[in-house]
Amino acid sequence: MYTQIFFMFLLATTATALVGWRDCGSQMGSIYTVRMTNCTQTPCLFHRGQSYEAEADGRWRANSNTLPFVLFVIVLGAPIPLLEGDACDYKIRGICPARNTDTFTFASYYPVPTNLPPVGGVARAQMYNDFGDTALCFELDVRIA
Ligand SMILES: *[C@@H]1O[C@H](CO)[C@@H](O)[C@H](O)[C@H]1NC(C)=O
Repeated sequence: MYTQIFFMFLLATTATALVGWRDCGSQMGSIYTVRMTNCTQTPCLFHRGQSYEAEADGRWRANSNTLPFVLFVIVLGAPIPLLEGDACDYKIRGICPARNTDTFTFASYYPVPTNLPPVGGVARAQMYNDFGDTALCFELDVRIA
């Protein structure tokens, strides 16, 4: 019975976790899981004009009072910002700002601009700490369609 519940939980969580994302220099914490609308394996399809949600779970290894955040897509070598602001506005679990050993979940919802070229690219979410160092960063390959 407990085994059954355990496996159901495992299925429910792994079904939505994204495979193929990369950490891009997180210095203040560990990202455990990334989830992405309609995508379980990179490259993720980004339909122009549609909105997508990216989520990340993890644990802090340090404190920071500020967490400026930018989410952008790199296409043809150019970074195009899709969302910018204070990461605390996108926190759905944990406390903000960052406190050593606390767990976090961030979720951001952003539109894919209609004027992007239909090419492959890299989507990257990056947060900075009080000193401008990369606090958390993850990226994934995307295909713009
Ligand atoms: C996600 O998939 C559903 C079902 O196929 C579709 O209706 C929806 O438009 C998709 N969302 C995005 C953002 O691609």
